[in-house]
Amino acid sequence: GSTISLPDLLAQMTLDEKIAQLIQLAVPFYEGAVDAGLITGPMESLGITEDTVRNSGSVLGMAGAADTINVQRIHLQNNRLGIPLLMMADIVHGFKTIFPVPLAIGCSWDLELAELSAEIAAKEAAVSGVHVTYAPMVDLVRDPRWGRVMESTGEDPYLNAEFARAFVRGFQGSDLAGDRDRVAACVKHFAAYGAAEGGRDYNTVDLSERQLREFYLPGYKAALDEGCEMVMTSFNTVDGIAATGNAKLMRKLLREEWGFGGILISDWGAVKELIAHGIAADESEAAAKALKAGVDIEMMTSCYAKHLSGLVENKEIEEALIDEAVMRILTLKQKLGLFENPYRAADPEREKEIVFCDAHREASLALAVKSCVLLKNEGVLPLQPSQRIAVIGPFARSGDLLGPWSWTGSHDAVVRLADSIKHKLDHPAELHVADGCGIETSTDAQWEEARAAAEASDVIVLALGEHSDMSGEAGCRANIQLPAVQLELIRKLRTLDKPIVVVLFNGRPLDLHGVYHEADAILEAWFPGSEGGNAVAELLFGYANPSGRLTMSFPFSVGQVPVYYNAYNTGRPQGAADAQVRYVSQYLDIPNEPLLPFGFGLSYTAFEYSDARISSDQMVMGQPLEVHVKVTNTGSVAGIETVQLYVRDLAGEVVRPVKELKDFRRVALEPGETQEIAFTLSETQLRYYHSDLSHTSDNGDFTVFVGPNSRETTALSFQLTK
Ligand code: IFM
Repeated sequence: GSTISLPDLLAQMTLDEKIAQLIQLAVPFYEGAVDAGLITGPMESLGITEDTVRNSGSVLGMAGAADTINVQRIHLQNNRLGIPLLMMADIVHGFKTIFPVPLAIGCSWDLELAELSAEIAAKEAAVSGVHVTYAPMVDLVRDPRWGRVMESTGEDPYLNAEFARAFVRGFQGSDLAGDRDRVAACVKHFAAYGAAEGGRDYNTVDLSERQLREFYLPGYKAALDEGCEMVMTSFNTVDGIAATGNAKLMRKLLREEWGFGGILISDWGAVKELIAHGIAADESEAAAKALKAGVDIEMMTSCYAKHLSGLVENKEIEEALIDEAVMRILTLKQKLGLFENPYRAADPEREKEIVFCDAHREASLALAVKSCVLLKNEGVLPLQPSQRIAVIGPFARSGDLLGPWSWTGSHDAVVRLADSIKHKLDHPAELHVADGCGIETSTDAQWEEARAAAEASDVIVLALGEHSDMSGEAGCRANIQLPAVQLELIRKLRTLDKPIVVVLFNGRPLDLHGVYHEADAILEAWFPGSEGGNAVAELLFGYANPSGRLTMSFPFSVGQVPVYYNAYNTGRPQGAADAQVRYVSQYLDIPNEPLLPFGFGLSYTAFEYSDARISSDQMVMGQPLEVHVKVTNTGSVAGIETVQLYVRDLAGEVVRPVKELKDFRRVALEPGETQEIAFTLSETQLRYYHSDLSHTSDNGDFTVFVGPNSRETTALSFQLTK
């Protein structure tokens, strides 16, 4: 621990020095950096003085041991009191060893591997000089048009909260102060960024407080309960007030109600954006609102730097508010040991050993294997090494398998699909590879090459998907089908009468029209990371058995969106016994149900559920029930099943979802093996937010469901009496 006294340090700081601590700037502002770092928002001239830069408190988007050491060294010489910089960066799903995108990690339902991925990301980032990562992103997502769904673990608040905890544990470890191989985590984006209207990034969010608390807040809360050091604001409004200037959300809920004492940072430019939102007349008002709301660090605009001292002079804000924010920043610097060793774990020599080492790549491979979801298989998978195979499609030999938010990774180091498949074949020379088309363009020559490849083969592996820029921040799409040229490619290949195995590389649930019925098998690989090709090849040839399960519904078509499993029943549900033909809640042209529901995923083996039972049909206070079910692997290969437990409260004080995930268990079963799974269900798991926002349960009837996904379940009943 540090021996310096932070109150003494604060007392020595001038008002301008304090204010400068509150500004965060991107790499190009700093002397000594060779690499330009990551630019993730609009670069505008900030109109700040050289002095502000020299006294600034933190940098955004810098990595690399040599650069961070150099910039830190110069900064320490440049500021009067020798206060070190905090180096913050988006290390979202890996540093150089890139793991699958978080939505894919969600589909693994594997909390231990998720934690390990964050631990490895932290270790590589830390040795490269990063102190804080802007992760985990835990925004609940329901609209696949939104490009950032790939950064979330999906549509379920319980599962998101479990992953939030796992990621925070992985990044921070249990002793952030003592363990130099960890970084501080910053949970984002507070709050409800995932509920943007129309799935358009940065768009309005308007939710009831009950919805907010029930679905959207649990992820952030779980991260903070796990000790997450920082929080980032979101770009959107929450009940009419942009989050970054929202005192009710930040000061009251986050700070007072939840007791969060760490750093709250704005997102890029979000303080100044209060003007565009129309809740601040100018930069000065934006600065006052954000600071009063509780925002400590302003990222990449200069409202604080230019206006806070005037606001203090005019007595519009108290200097104590600034002191509070500065103290939070100094406290994290102290906790990370930066006053003793401002370079922390940055070490160019160790960096070479640790970053992208074999052990890390193996972990990435293991997680990628578990993240892929088998969506369809009409007996064509697994492939045989003796088969003649054509690998066709824009992703056949593409290195674009890392996905958005992998700026520290390298496409050149990615294992490509065609290469990995080649290694699996008895006769590698018989592999035929062709692009068939680009991601959004095509030529006749590409088609001719693809046709020749297909004709010379027994089976086609068709690698399709979205370019990584088609999702991620500002990567929204109104049409979430594959680009037209790729649909055309399937259609044409279909005429050749060869089995087609589609492998999808993409950042969101897609509308699979033109793919689902046309393909004989579909493996959703998402953006699988550095070892992507290997992971997919392992699965295609059955060296590993697919075990991923969707954590976000695949819509039947985009017109259903948002479509999610934990929805309300409505007063005129489709399929009710007494339902009329017309006056029910439904579409005339498409089903209500998504194409593939939450929790869904196939395997090369089959699992049979039997003997579902509940320990009693009465639950009384303090006495949890046990729900048992037997699961048997009835196929001929070993596999992993994810047994899911859902609940429905049949008559609540407010409407309740038709199903809510309460627990799950991943079980590995050998062929013929049966295991009995026992879940404990207690009254606390039945609580929800009532109309007065009290968090309690109701007496009355409940249904509990067990099964392999949110659609195919066995129902049991019980009654709660308190
Ligand atoms: O961390 C990100 C955030 O998720 C989106 N805007 C930019 C930030 C910093 O890069």
